[in-house]
Amino acid sequence: MQDFSGKTAVITGGASGIGLGLAEHCAELGMNVVLGDIQQDALDQAVEKVAQRQANVLGVITDTMVKTSVNNLLEEATNTYGNVHLVFNNAGVAAGNSAGKAVWEAPDEDWHWVMGVNFYGVLYGMQTFIPHMLEHGEESYMINTASLAAVTPLGGSYGVSKHGVLALTEGMQSDLEQRGANIHAGVLCPGFVDTQIFNAERNRPGAEQTQADTEDPEYQQVKAMLANGKSPAEIADYVFTAMANKQFYMLPHPAWDDFVSSRTKQILARRGVATMDMMAMLERSAEGEQF
Ligand SMILES: NC(=O)c1ccc[n+]([C@@H]2O[C@H](COP(=O)([O-])OP(=O)(O)OC[C@H]3O[C@@H](n4cnc5c(N)ncnc54)[C@H](O)[C@@H]3O)[C@@H](O)[C@H]2O)c1
Repeated sequence: MQDFSGKTAVITGGASGIGLGLAEHCAELGMNVVLGDIQQDALDQAVEKVAQRQANVLGVITDTMVKTSVNNLLEEATNTYGNVHLVFNNAGVAAGNSAGKAVWEAPDEDWHWVMGVNFYGVLYGMQTFIPHMLEHGEESYMINTASLAAVTPLGGSYGVSKHGVLALTEGMQSDLEQRGANIHAGVLCPGFVDTQIFNAERNRPGAEQTQADTEDPEYQQVKAMLANGKSPAEIADYVFTAMANKQFYMLPHPAWDDFVSSRTKQILARRGVATMDMMAMLERSAEGEQF
C-alpha cells in the first residue's frame, strides 16, 4: 500500500509505548486511528495526543484477553470508519513479580495473564480482523508484536508467549499466501524500547493484582536496559519502512543479531542452550549501544 491516507488503522495497546508510537505515525500519514486499550485514563490521554495531529481518532476500551472485547473493537472501528486496513496486534505485558523466579516457580496466575494478553490477544485479533479484511478484499496489513524474546532462548511466560506469537504469525502468513489473500503479514521483534512495560502490573486484572519486586536485580537490569533502548517513534519509523519493503521479520535492533544466530548454531550443532552475558550487555548498553 503506497498511500495510507484515509485508510483505517486499529492498534491494540495503543495508549502507551510502542502502540502509541505507531498510532502517532498512522496519524501523521492521515489515517483514521482506532486505539484499543484496557487502561481508561491512558487511553483518554492518548486519544487527545493523536487528535493533536489533526487525525480522526477513536478510543475503545478493550481487553485483548477476552475475545468478545476484541470483536467489539472491530465493530466500533467499522461503525465509525468503515473498512479496517491495518491492524497492529500489539498489546502485551510482562509479569514483574516473576523476575528472579525459575520457570517452575512462577505462579500459574502469571502464566495465564501473560499468555492471555500476549498470545491469546494476538490470536483473537487474527480471528476477528482477518475474516473482515478477506471480506472487504482491499489491500491490508496485519502486524503482530512479538519480541526478540521470540528468537532467543529467553524462557518464562514472556518468552513462551512471544515464541507463540512468532509461530502463529508465520502460520498466518503462509495461510494468507496459499489463499492468495490481499493481506500482508509481519512480525515485529524489538529488543529494548523505552516504554512502560516494566510497570505492566498496573493492568493486571482484579484480585490477582500484584506488584513487581522492584528491588530484584533482574527487574532493575531490565528497567535500565529499557531506559537505554530505542524510542517508540524510532520503532514506528522502522515498521513502516519494513512494511514498504514487504519484510515479514521485523528486527529493529541489529545489536542482537550475533546472539540470534548463536542460538540457531547451537540448535543445529545439537548442543546446549546459548547463554547471554547480561552484565556485558548492560555495560555496552550504558555506553550507548541499543539492545
Ligand atoms: N518495551 C520493550 O522493550 C519491548 C520489547 C519487545 C517487545 N515489546 C512488546 O511491545 C508491545 C507493547 O509494549 P510496550 O513496551 O509499548 O509497553 P507499554 O506498557 O508501554 O504499553 C502496553 C500497552 O498495552 C496495554 N494493555 C495491557 N494489557 C492489555 C489488555 N489486556 N488489553 C488491551 N491492552 C492492554 C497497556 O495499557 C499499555 O497501554 C508488547 O507486546 C510488548 O511485549 C516491548
